[in-house]
Amino acid sequence: MRCSVLLLAVLAISQSHALTRIPLHKGKSLRNTLKERGLLEDFLSTHQSEFTEKGFGTGIVASEPLTNYLDSEYFGTIYIGTPPQEFTVVFDTGSSELWVPSVYCNSRVCQKHHRFDPSKSFTFQNLSKPLFVQYGTGRVQGFLGYDTVTVSDITITHQTVGLSTQEPGDIFVFSPFDGILGLSYPSLASKYSVPIFDNMMNRHLVAEDLFSVYMNRNDQGSMLTLGAIDQSYFVGPLHWVPVTVQGYWQFTVDRITINDEVVACQGGCPAILDTGTALLAGPGGDILNIQQVIGAVQGQYGLFKVNCWSLGMMPTIVFEIHGRRFPLPPSAYINQELGSCSSGFKFGSQMWILGDVFIREFYSVFDRANNRVGLAKAI
Ligand SMILES: *[C@@H]1O[C@H](CO)[C@@H](O)[C@H](O)[C@H]1NC(C)=O
Repeated sequence: MRCSVLLLAVLAISQSHALTRIPLHKGKSLRNTLKERGLLEDFLSTHQSEFTEKGFGTGIVASEPLTNYLDSEYFGTIYIGTPPQEFTVVFDTGSSELWVPSVYCNSRVCQKHHRFDPSKSFTFQNLSKPLFVQYGTGRVQGFLGYDTVTVSDITITHQTVGLSTQEPGDIFVFSPFDGILGLSYPSLASKYSVPIFDNMMNRHLVAEDLFSVYMNRNDQGSMLTLGAIDQSYFVGPLHWVPVTVQGYWQFTVDRITINDEVVACQGGCPAILDTGTALLAGPGGDILNIQQVIGAVQGQYGLFKVNCWSLGMMPTIVFEIHGRRFPLPPSAYINQELGSCSSGFKFGSQMWILGDVFIREFYSVFDRANNRVGLAKAI
């Protein structure tokens, strides 16, 4: 009996969530019904998220400034726990887990970063499930917990947080950020985790179920906007591209051309828009083709070198996406550092990864409400 009442309540909530936001009176009546039956406490402890008072309010727009580290990582500051502990994280549209180093991690890499101490947060709860995330560049292990997380002006209670206890290898040693905050779909997260933007949507903390990213070349001035599109960061219309698989922010690129000739992605190819990847990565054959056309030769660390003086003669490379052209001039796809120049294209997987090189040129909207990506010429 007890169980079936709860089940019905859960069904009612999940169904109204699927269709529309829960109106205040509906929530209240459900709350009173449960209270009468003496079940409210049980129910709240397992479904706290749907019932926070804030959940019935109107969402807001929150701006999170991002720091640009050498054009290769963009990160911002978040707070975890009560009282809040501060961390820098990459807001990564190429993964879905949120994690930071914990005091249980004693490796060199963890010692170099801020470490979360759950014993100093009275809102922390251990979820006692493993954290395991494999990135293109490294792997992170630990356990999952719940705690209060603040991003800009948005505070999310009972958010799943991964606490790393091991970050094998030296991949993260020199990273200027502490952890990673995943902004992809829930299907990429552990089955025990609810990605942070899903919690923001479910509890109606954001004005709209979308976020947008502006990345520039300066140290400061880049921005993650939660809950809105910021017209001041782009010119011309946004071009909407449907998400084809809801895991990464994945869509189809029609072809990649130079002077209207196909140089890569013949016949169309899958691609993802990834704020957590610095360059443009694609299948070997495609990448070699492009490097050849721009005159790049393979150097160290998988980077391809070009002569800085030949920049003026290099072509514009055009990504054709859902019927519109997105041109990348050499100034966009060539990285210039300390008088040496390298190609922004590198070997990756079968799926193209459009990283920061692309996002610096095109303001990007990640629209969960309509499962689409919006692209426009960044200012
Ligand atoms: C949380 O649970 C995990 C797995 O059961 C355990 O390894 C870890 O020590 C616990 N941590 C805390 C802070 O209770």
